[in-house]
Amino acid sequence: LKLVVLISGSGSNLRALLEAASDDTYPAEIVAVGADNAASGLAHAVEFGVPTFIVAPQEYANREAWGQALAAAISEHQPDLVVCAGFMRILPADFVGLFSPQLINMHPALLPLYPGAHAVRDALADGATVTGASVHIVDEGVDTGPVIEQVQVVINADDTEESLHERIKAVERELIVRTVKNIATKNINLQELAR
Ligand code: GRF
Repeated sequence: LKLVVLISGSGSNLRALLEAASDDTYPAEIVAVGADNAASGLAHAVEFGVPTFIVAPQEYANREAWGQALAAAISEHQPDLVVCAGFMRILPADFVGLFSPQLINMHPALLPLYPGAHAVRDALADGATVTGASVHIVDEGVDTGPVIEQVQVVINADDTEESLHERIKAVERELIVRTVKNIATKNINLQELAR
């Protein structure tokens, strides 16, 4: 299974995928890593010899034009699956239409709870005692697509946004490696989940 991974930040989930894929028995390979900015996580791709590209929204007249350029940069690599791993931009509907359901996203909460960019903070502010990590198919909404799998994380009384997010990210790394493997081996069927 050929993957393009999209990131905006530190890329620890990307790194987990790169490490998993460096084992010959892992049934997926990362053919390129894309970002919307000069993300520090691109360095992981460089270290593993994987090509990178940046498609920055401020270089385009509008979101649609940006989405088209991003789609073109991805399509050059002919992936079977696009993985958003901490990609912090909402994708235009035309882009989603091109790739979904072969387009998945990681989210640091138990969706449909706490969608959006501040999921960890929102769970804490809500006084939740449990949150977690989800991987889901991207649809036209914000973190609304069908959930593929999720894992719970218990919130401690003394958790800060940072400490909780670190524990969630540890869970996310295992989750994304396992989910991509299950998609590659057809234990998960995205077409069926999207129906
Ligand atoms: C993850 O928690 C992901 O779910 C969220 O952003 C974080 C990305 O972390 N949307 P990293 O860049 O993979 O380290």
